[in-house]
Amino acid sequence: MGNARIIGSGSFLPEKIVSNEELAATLNSKGIKTSDEWIVQRTGICQRHLADNITNSYMAGEAAKLALLDAELKSSELDMIIVATSTPDNVFPSTACLVQANIKAYSASAFDIQAACSGFVYALSVANSFISSGFAKNIMVIGSEIFSRIIDWNDRKTCVLFGDGAGAFVLSESDSLHGGILSVDLQANGDYSNILRVGSHFNNSSIVGDPFIRMDGQAVFKQAINFLEISARNICKKSNFSLGTIDWFIPHQANIRIMNALGHKLGVPTDKFIITVDKHANTSAASIPLAFDYARKDGKIKEHDVILMQGVGGGFTCGSILAMV
Ligand code: ACO
Repeated sequence: MGNARIIGSGSFLPEKIVSNEELAATLNSKGIKTSDEWIVQRTGICQRHLADNITNSYMAGEAAKLALLDAELKSSELDMIIVATSTPDNVFPSTACLVQANIKAYSASAFDIQAACSGFVYALSVANSFISSGFAKNIMVIGSEIFSRIIDWNDRKTCVLFGDGAGAFVLSESDSLHGGILSVDLQANGDYSNILRVGSHFNNSSIVGDPFIRMDGQAVFKQAINFLEISARNICKKSNFSLGTIDWFIPHQANIRIMNALGHKLGVPTDKFIITVDKHANTSAASIPLAFDYARKDGKIKEHDVILMQGVGGGFTCGSILAMV
């Protein structure tokens, strides 16, 4: 059995765009000080898309439809749908089941994966295992998030960082011309669970606690760079690829300074990095497929390019996938 390769991609961004200036004006009117200058300088973010009156499963379904068109595959040919998300419509049914019904992929099994901002890379690795074992032929993998619903809009330390959106890949068995997924590295360390979390939880028959994302920004900054560097070096070692032979790096789009520091640590020029954090902000599990789809349609990523996709986030989790397109 061959490993998986990406045969199509698609993405969906909500219509509503909020610039830093607009967000700063809203926050300033509530007495919360921030500015476009602060946000751009500390994060590289210029704007974010925000979901109004649409659901996560709707966005995921729209991205999935475009990925199917791109792959020239019918939804009935899908064997599995995996959605990576921390912001599902419901605890259950899974977002993947809602997408399955939406796109009428009734031959597909369907489930969600939650590994925060590393979720899409974790989901790709699971899909790769199902394809390489021969269990499935065609799998839809989606990263879809509405973080705007778990943000405390009065907390300037977090509310400027996130956006909403969805991205999808169709994976199928690789062939002799396309290497597909070449190597996988997954990491987790629950000792860092407190530096980035949404603390609400079940207690008897009610949900209690803080429903919003809370973060120790400096600790996350430091650990994100640390985990990404270790994982990038691990995957190169496992696959006998050198960093210099990789055409494109697609790290999780959280913060331009994290990406610049990663490039510096790895000795890789950042013009080899796909950057969409300026346009999309941090869309958690959706950030990598959104960036990939953007760069492919922009003509940057071409057939046979070797790409390194890296997720990092809450848990603490991190994951890398080396793939030939
Ligand atoms: N506007 C203006 N001032 C702000 C804002 C804001 N939006 N947010 C914080 N500040 C203030 C702070 O209150 C602080 O003021 P004080 O000195 O009076 O207390 C000052 O700016 C400096 O705050 P720091 O937290 O030290 O700022 P820092 O340079 O670390 O930047 C940031 C903060 C951008 C969050 C940074 O720590 C970071 O990028 N961390 C990584 C976190 C991240 O990307 N998380 C995304 C989720 S995790 C993931 O996806 C991997």
